[in-house]
Amino acid sequence: MNKSKASDPRIDVLKAISSWGSVAFDLDQLLQLIIETSTNVMNAKASSLLLLDPKTKKLYFKIATGEKKEEIKKYEINVGQGIAGYVAETGEPLLIPDVAKDERWDKKISESIGFQTRSIACVPMKTNGAVIGVVEIIDREDGRPIQEADLEILTSFAGLASTAINNARKFNAVKKENKNLKEELGNRYEIVGESEAIRKAIGDAYKVANSKASTLISGESGTGKELLARLIHRAGPRKDKPLVVINCGALPETLLEAELFGYEKGSFTGAVTKKIGMFEMADEGSVFLDEVGEMSPTMQVKLLRVLQEGIFYSVGGNSPISVDVRVISATNKEILREVSEGRFREDLYYRLNVVQIHMPALRERREDISLLAGHFLNIFNKERGTMDLKISPAAMEKIVQYDWPGNVRELENAIERGVVMGNGKEILPEDLPIQTSSSNYGGDIQVGMSLKNAVDHFKKEFIIMTLNSTGGNKSKAAKVLDVQRTYLSRLVSKYNLN
Ligand SMILES: Nc1ncnc2c1ncn2[C@@H]1O[C@H](COP(=O)(O)OP(=O)(O)OP(=O)(O)O)[C@@H](O)[C@H]1O
Ligand SMILES: [Mg+2]
Repeated sequence: MNKSKASDPRIDVLKAISSWGSVAFDLDQLLQLIIETSTNVMNAKASSLLLLDPKTKKLYFKIATGEKKEEIKKYEINVGQGIAGYVAETGEPLLIPDVAKDERWDKKISESIGFQTRSIACVPMKTNGAVIGVVEIIDREDGRPIQEADLEILTSFAGLASTAINNARKFNAVKKENKNLKEELGNRYEIVGESEAIRKAIGDAYKVANSKASTLISGESGTGKELLARLIHRAGPRKDKPLVVINCGALPETLLEAELFGYEKGSFTGAVTKKIGMFEMADEGSVFLDEVGEMSPTMQVKLLRVLQEGIFYSVGGNSPISVDVRVISATNKEILREVSEGRFREDLYYRLNVVQIHMPALRERREDISLLAGHFLNIFNKERGTMDLKISPAAMEKIVQYDWPGNVRELENAIERGVVMGNGKEILPEDLPIQTSSSNYGGDIQVGMSLKNAVDHFKKEFIIMTLNSTGGNKSKAAKVLDVQRTYLSRLVSKYNLN
């Protein structure tokens, strides 16, 4: 015997099976390969895989091999009809050495396509105990009838096929759910606005989306900077990779460094395990550095190095990590003033600001106010199932007249409050947490007061108005007022506003 010839048929089977992995996500092709391999292993004349349609209770041919494989695919078989129908109905495998002697045999199909059949083996495919289809083989090429051993092999292959089908169905369900979720999010992340200014911002976002150019988004608090950053990410080639959002103003320096660059186990007290930083998580995707103007000088240097060299070191680490990230940043500060007054590095500014997109304040695009009000009403109506809640004309008038210092976020909060506090039919002016007249505090100020007293009155009222506009959120109010949160807290206690 010549040993150098690979004549062992088991090797061929293994080779065939090892190729399945590469088509694992193409169910049709995978099933085709499973059936072809099983046909070869058993040396069968023909074989087929039928799937059960649970609605019509019919079996249809998904895969067929053999000389009549095209003709057979036109047929459908009722559950209970013939051998395949019997197996689908009972869920039990069946081996029939001579079909002529078995009353379950329904010869109509074989006769009409002209296929001689003597022996047949048919096994069910199941998931969670329920039949989802059957696999059958007909006769052997060598003329011997199909035997018990063949039935065992066929059962194994049917098991593989049902696992493949089950996985594909699960995968498709997840894909569909993912698509639905994305559509839902799409509504939430939709940038609403028809004004020239917002259209320009959106147009610029689409333009930069296809490049890797660092983009700095400027604009007051609540104007939609983060929304625009998400659009830039989603509209570009990195959309299927992560967008990692980091608020540079929210964390003290050392924590921010650990968040951005990660740390090694034991690099500081509390670092009990190694942690991957956000830059690494965003590899091949984008990072959004929110409130980048708040970064400390030391962090500015570190960020600059990443942007210049594309590498960084984790805290406590000494091998450079290189990543491919697209950087989008945002600031509600007047960043050029920060630069000219020495608080923000000029070189970093130029790195971040290859393209700048400005998000206009809401009061600079008044035509968008009613549109946005309607948009948020829709969203909250949907969330609460209060489909026909309206904004009364008087309330809309108040909304359109107002200056919205907290911009779109304030408008969004106001509509939400209106939906919650309204009478269920329409939102009235008094349901809105806004004070339209600037003379609200006027009553308290009189000639004869000291300047300090008048300023105190004004400050108190103005803080109340701003806090109302942010729904009581002090951090947001501090941002709108452009003061430190700690300072605002001090004023809140001073004026007894708690
Ligand atoms: N044009 C718009 N269309 C629809 N929703 C918007 C629009 N602009 C902003 N929003 C919504 O307003 C809220 C504030 O937007 P976003 O967080 O993007 O603002 P921001 O500029 O990042 O604010 P901040 O500086 O306070 O972080 C979000 O809920 C956002 O969905
Ligand atoms: Mg933001």
